[in-house]
Amino acid sequence: MKRRDFISSLGTVAAFSGVSNAAPFNIIKNLKNSPNDVIRIATIGMGIQGHYDTKAALKNPGVEFVAAADLYTGRLERVKADFGQNIFTTRDYREILNRKDIDAVLIATPDHWHDKITIDALNAGKHVYCEKPMVQAINEGHPVINAWKKSGKTMQVGSQRISGSVFQEAKKLIAAGEIGQVNYVESNNDRFSAIGAWNYSIPTDASPATVDWDTFLKDTAKMPFDANRFFRWRNYKNYGTGVAGDLFVHLITGVHYVMDSKGPNRIFASGGLRYWKEGRDVPDVMVAILDYPKSGNLDPFQMVLRVNFANAGAINNNTRIIGSEGQIDFGWDGLTLTKKKLPKAPGYGNYDSYFTFSESQQKDFEKWYNEKYTEADRKGEPVKEIKIKGKEGEDEHANHFGNFFENIRKGSQATIEDPIFGFRAAAPVLACNDSYFQKKPISWDPVAMKLV
Ligand SMILES: NC(=O)c1ccc[n+]([C@@H]2O[C@H](COP(=O)([O-])OP(=O)(O)OC[C@H]3O[C@@H](n4cnc5c(N)ncnc54)[C@H](O)[C@@H]3O)[C@@H](O)[C@H]2O)c1
Repeated sequence: MKRRDFISSLGTVAAFSGVSNAAPFNIIKNLKNSPNDVIRIATIGMGIQGHYDTKAALKNPGVEFVAAADLYTGRLERVKADFGQNIFTTRDYREILNRKDIDAVLIATPDHWHDKITIDALNAGKHVYCEKPMVQAINEGHPVINAWKKSGKTMQVGSQRISGSVFQEAKKLIAAGEIGQVNYVESNNDRFSAIGAWNYSIPTDASPATVDWDTFLKDTAKMPFDANRFFRWRNYKNYGTGVAGDLFVHLITGVHYVMDSKGPNRIFASGGLRYWKEGRDVPDVMVAILDYPKSGNLDPFQMVLRVNFANAGAINNNTRIIGSEGQIDFGWDGLTLTKKKLPKAPGYGNYDSYFTFSESQQKDFEKWYNEKYTEADRKGEPVKEIKIKGKEGEDEHANHFGNFFENIRKGSQATIEDPIFGFRAAAPVLACNDSYFQKKPISWDPVAMKLV
């Protein structure tokens, strides 16, 4: 069964339970988000990801896009051109939250607006899909979680790759012990282009007339209009979260999901601004080491993350989870599981101290070794390599929304990436920034979700 068929069949089961004989008619009539209802969505922040999110959401059945908010006039025009002249557009997201006919909002603004709009939306009774990282600063995490709990609404954080079959397969492989005890995770995401380094195109009509600059600034330092800051906000720590919040967060989300981990307890990051010195105040090279403590069935392990936006060398981006009996290597279209197991017998000879022994000691040693280790003890498990491809035609982004909508229809808060999961992924990457700027390791309690 395809995942989407599964979801829609779940919808059907729920639909029958919704019209059970026991339920009085007026309750059925007023039931919000009954399984058969169309879910009406609005997107707040209609830039690059706002478009991708909206299109991915609409690939699911029973979803209607009705409104969009953005601070730049050109993007509001683009929404109508792409999605229909009847889409309601506004610069003020509160107009969307005030509308009773909107069930869920997609938040794809720059990072510094995530917490405020999420909390306002939950308080206004909307379900929320919020882009990663869930918050811009560690102290914003618990207020979002509390608002979500109080609201009873469904919330999904948008690091969508874990809704792909490859990550789901990796999770099963690790739980089944296929690579033994994980001891090390490494991941890098290097780039070598201006757009890769976030210098996105700026429209020529950018001005205080076309952009609501004061609203964009939110509670950050007031300053005259600056198109670079508005359209390339990732380059400034007031609005974005640097390479850690932007890219490490995807890597860590995947690892937490497949390993069932709550997060690291010690985080150290180093780096610098090496090449893109056009005015940005965040590093373009960052390396982070995260120490994961023993937790449940997981032994302690280290995670090492790297981004280099000025890598003119060979770029070979990969994510590897390494264990005592193999590794999982994530590629673009699937994963490779490599299994190998050491033999019980350590071996001797070649580059070893054996050749330095006296003649008679070498003989004694051989005799001792042959008595101690059987033939079977000397054989390691042969190396096995298994390639697992993602499902043909699968759209993990649409699936991620599918999970969000499925939970809305069930009246459930148990999304695959709820705000507790989202904060456990965001906080360690935000701690990477704290470590970099404060030049010190950061201690974090991943269970209580608090700085130590
Ligand atoms: N999940 C992913 O794979 C993925 C990929 C890219 C971006 N993202 C995330 O999506 C978010 C947006 O990134 P982007 O690349 O689309 O940025 P972008 O600059 O292209 O778009 C952001 C838009 O938000 C608007 N905006 C800013 N403040 C607003 C406010 N208060 N109300 C309404 N609109 C507001 C801006 O006008 C802009 O059009 C970021 O948080 C980013 O981390 C996620």
